[in-house]
Amino acid sequence: MKLTVIGTGYLGAVHAACMAEIGHEVLGVDVDAAKITALAAGRTPFFEPGLQELLSRGIDSGRLRFTTSLREAARFGGLHFLCVGTPQRPDGLGADLRHVDAVVDGLAPHLPPALIVGKSTVPVGTAERLTARLRAAGAPEVQLAWNPEFLREGHAVMDTLRPDRLVFGTGSRCAEKVLREVYAPLIRSGVPYVATDPATAELVKMAANSFLATKISFINAMAEVCDAAGADVTVLAHALGYDDRIGRSFLNAGLGFGGGCLPKDIRAFRARAAELGVGSVVAFLSEIDEINHRQRRRTVELTARLAGGSLPGRRIAVLGAAFKPDSDDVRDSPALAVAAQLHRERAVVRVHDPEALENAREAFPQLEYVSRVAKACEGADVVLHLTDWAEYRALAPDTLTPLVRRPCLLDARNSLDADFWIRAGWQYAALGRLGALPHLPSDASAAT
Ligand SMILES: NC(=O)c1ccc[n+]([C@@H]2O[C@H](COP(=O)([O-])OP(=O)(O)OC[C@H]3O[C@@H](n4cnc5c(N)ncnc54)[C@H](O)[C@@H]3O)[C@@H](O)[C@H]2O)c1
Repeated sequence: MKLTVIGTGYLGAVHAACMAEIGHEVLGVDVDAAKITALAAGRTPFFEPGLQELLSRGIDSGRLRFTTSLREAARFGGLHFLCVGTPQRPDGLGADLRHVDAVVDGLAPHLPPALIVGKSTVPVGTAERLTARLRAAGAPEVQLAWNPEFLREGHAVMDTLRPDRLVFGTGSRCAEKVLREVYAPLIRSGVPYVATDPATAELVKMAANSFLATKISFINAMAEVCDAAGADVTVLAHALGYDDRIGRSFLNAGLGFGGGCLPKDIRAFRARAAELGVGSVVAFLSEIDEINHRQRRRTVELTARLAGGSLPGRRIAVLGAAFKPDSDDVRDSPALAVAAQLHRERAVVRVHDPEALENAREAFPQLEYVSRVAKACEGADVVLHLTDWAEYRALAPDTLTPLVRRPCLLDARNSLDADFWIRAGWQYAALGRLGALPHLPSDASAAT
């Protein structure tokens, strides 16, 4: 089929390349000319494992092209995937839908009969509102459907080609049939799909992200209780995870969630629920948000404690800048938030990341960035493990011991081997295990 993918960021570039991979003729569209130039030349504008190969293959096959022209997109075919950003509004909690609106307004005057399929995460009711907007713009033969995206950065290619499920929110059998055709190779390979109305489809995505955020904040709340009680949250999570009703994933206590999705989505959900008059039933999401931010504050406080009670002049090595491993995305990155706060409190901070340094430098130019872990650790009073890259899990403590001023590690992702580091002579601390592990000073003076 011939289709366009409008918005070629983290979601759209992957979607475009994957649609070409499964045999469609795809035109990717973005207002960012630099991004389109890079994509058209076969260069991924961001780090995503497996995307480079797919992009090259799509371009070489002639099935994948890119443009900045929405008019060209309107004429390309009858199916348009909408993948533009829906960030938090600058003046409130709700989603900023100006990019979504701009695409629909831009397409409307040029469209032959067509189906626009939203993939961006939007507040429930958006498809209905956009349909009215299209009608008002005189595009009566254009239909709107919502097909929310559940991909995870770092696994985006596999998640697009082998998703857990597809959700088709359409207003007609005909639109549903088109979506079944688009995804036919996936459906044939056993991927389940749920066909529903657009409002339910929009809500599935908001509900999924709210649930995931709740699970993370739940275990982080348990981590704080563990710290107060001298218990170990990693063992707690392990034991909880055996219960099929609970499950083990998303129960990793630590620095919490960030990125361009979960934080803004739970806020947008609260804002939309309030508009619908049911704000109080999802009021708990503000607590989820607050617990999440508490982890950043706790990490800074614990760093100060490990550094001997005060931060000014202390050298802190920060391992990780991306909001999660296998991505260079630094939007609302917990690691960078912690690094920036330590810097504000006059610690001397050096940040390392395997892929996200360029984006991090743009977001927080005041911080110092280094391209080697060893360089970050030189003279450090405390080493912070803030993003769970495999490279950090493979670190050999012995190689770092001669470099640091004090062998002291805060594993804010609870993913390093505590025994390994402790046996190597390091003081090892982790959120949710403060009372359960040895080597943590009981008060500030112990670390000086
Ligand atoms: N990133 C993820 O992991 C992920 C996963 C699932 C859903 N989503 C949702 O997908 C949407 C996009 O997220 P993203 O992470 O790809 O954002 P992004 O910022 O990486 O990409 C958005 C792209 O849209 C482009 N754009 C903006 N206005 C445009 C216009 N008028 N015409 C054409 N292009 C335009 C931007 O230039 C940018 O390249 C959001 O709603 C997000 O919540 C993202």
